[in-house]
Amino acid sequence: MSSYTNLSVSTDDNKIAWLTLDVKDEAANVIGPELIEEMNAAIDEIKVTNPKGVIINSGKSSGFIAGADVKKFEGMTNSEKDRELALSFIHMGQALCQKIEDLSFPTLAMVKGFCMGGGLEIALSCDYIVTDDSPSTKLSLPEIQLGIHPGFGGTVRSIRRMGVLKAMPLMLTGRNLVPRQAKKMGLTDYCVPLRQLKTTAVQTILLKPTKHQAPKSAALLETSPMRKVIAMQMRKQVASKTKQEHYPAPYALINIWEMHGSKSSEMYEAEAHSVATLVSTDTAQNLVRVFFLQNRLKALGDKKLFTPKHVHVIGGGVMGGDIAAWCAMQGMRVTIQDMNTEALGRVIGRANTGFKRRFRKDKIRIMQAQDNLIPDLHGHGIAKADVIIEAIFENLEAKQEIFKNVEKKAKKTAIIATNTSSIPLQEIAAVMKNPERLVGLHFFNPVFKMPLLEIVQTPDQTDPKVVALAQSFGAHINKLPLPVKSSPGFLINRILMPYILEGVTLYQEGVPATIVDKAAVDYGMPMGPLELADTVGLDICLHVGKILADTVGVTLPDTLDKEVEQGRLGKKSGQGFYAWKKDKKVKPDNKQWTGDRHKVQTRLIEKLLAESKKCLEENIVENSDLLDAGVIFGTGFAPFRGGPMHALLEAKDSL
Ligand code: NAI
Repeated sequence: MSSYTNLSVSTDDNKIAWLTLDVKDEAANVIGPELIEEMNAAIDEIKVTNPKGVIINSGKSSGFIAGADVKKFEGMTNSEKDRELALSFIHMGQALCQKIEDLSFPTLAMVKGFCMGGGLEIALSCDYIVTDDSPSTKLSLPEIQLGIHPGFGGTVRSIRRMGVLKAMPLMLTGRNLVPRQAKKMGLTDYCVPLRQLKTTAVQTILLKPTKHQAPKSAALLETSPMRKVIAMQMRKQVASKTKQEHYPAPYALINIWEMHGSKSSEMYEAEAHSVATLVSTDTAQNLVRVFFLQNRLKALGDKKLFTPKHVHVIGGGVMGGDIAAWCAMQGMRVTIQDMNTEALGRVIGRANTGFKRRFRKDKIRIMQAQDNLIPDLHGHGIAKADVIIEAIFENLEAKQEIFKNVEKKAKKTAIIATNTSSIPLQEIAAVMKNPERLVGLHFFNPVFKMPLLEIVQTPDQTDPKVVALAQSFGAHINKLPLPVKSSPGFLINRILMPYILEGVTLYQEGVPATIVDKAAVDYGMPMGPLELADTVGLDICLHVGKILADTVGVTLPDTLDKEVEQGRLGKKSGQGFYAWKKDKKVKPDNKQWTGDRHKVQTRLIEKLLAESKKCLEENIVENSDLLDAGVIFGTGFAPFRGGPMHALLEAKDSL
């Protein structure tokens, strides 16, 4: 056999060929033209030896294949040259998958770890897919999250294997499947313990069981009239979440299936052309930017710096309770302290619901998380913890008392942190013997959903080593750690507050709440400012607004004061700008309003963009990329616009 740079080929005693992927100089196998060429050549060589079958597997501990090399998508324009380049790469990938599918002997993908995008498309072109059963193995077609859709024949083959009703949602959401789900949905053939993975792969090749395909009844859904009905339904579902002008890829995917679903050859070609067009859109380019920004944030936390094993959380309210549960779910031992036993009871109850929701039927993982979370009324955990996080109510004196005590008892090496959302760190640290030890770990609500973690530091006071450890801790608990300067509102609340207050001002001027919020959602925000205010709590908005008023340079609208005075606090009180029932917004009446909606949108977004610019000028974060990343992952700011600073730049360019 020839020698290759990115893979190796061997034959075992059963005359089965093993094609092992190991892309040079990369932590994970990513697909670029070089790998495709080598796989083509290797398969040609294997063919000549007439083996019993071929098993495609990975030599990387990180997983099977992470997908196509996203670096190659960067900077693609809608020029003819770039389109041709994209099309030729897609055709290469399609041809490789077709070649694998056409082999006359059995083919099998043996998957452990990540199997994503183009990697899953290669697996789908094999006769069999076998995985281990570890929840760290993930299978997905996540292309939609980069503004495109599968392009190596995955649209055809996933539907052929699973049926349209299972395959389409997988492609339209880009969600990850763990092995058991993948097996249940018919994506894979076997899901076995790791120790049996190799044997299962070999036995499958030797015994050649019937190949898995979607049930016959699924073919009925592929007829032209049925495709029309199903496509309409899917479009409706997609439209309830995203607009076509913001995210064209899901609509393009539904269109090509509706038009060509019954003819594979046509659909392959339509799929290729569609991806080659989508990849150069602003949406795809900005989503690719967000992908790299996310990696950049992840890289800010160096996991090798230390291994946190024990976290102690003080304050078992909404935030402290959820922070404790989240850390327990990441495998850490967590002691949770509150002076109120009932609060501790509530933490455990809420945590159990969270564990069950996250781990579904995986009883072992649920039990492990439950075992990790320990109520600690008297704070015995402080002396043993590697990380101590204070999350009691927002009061300077109370927090100072906590830290005086914590500093005395904590290990010398422990991280001492506060989750305060508005009190400057230097004020809390003023009572400490070693104020350089205090760092902010500012989580966002709801903790289970929000990926960002602000690492707050006081320049010239917080020890840089403590900041680096706090960033490392962020990475260990699977959050995106963003270093920010301690100043009122830090980054995210500071940027959100003028946007929320402008929403309240517009409301005060007579614009209905639904119109105000729709203007923001139409821009691409996940939620309008008034619904956000209701969700956070109008009393909290008022409190944070007062703290930030001087920094941001705003006068608080009277409406906010009045609403709070009258006990209308938003979601938690059942009434705010909207009515709420059982934590759900009651569908509001559609009010008639004839004003200028575009102006409403401009006023809201301009506030947000202007505050972002000010934060950058004041060095709240290090640079504009980190600011964009923070605002996207901390507020859900329209990812397809690439972040506020990027949006400002684009707006300037288009003038
Ligand atoms: P909360 O009022 O829901 O909970 C506070 C908990 O601390 C209560 O259970 C109380 O019994 C306990 N507590 C008070 N003093 C204590 C003491 N000396 N020792 C032990 N336990 C004590 O508060 P919430 O909303 O969870 O906020 C906590 C912190 O997190 C605050 O600093 C807040 O600014 C910050 N934060 C809040 C966010 C939110 O959306 N609620 C978001 C991000 C940060």
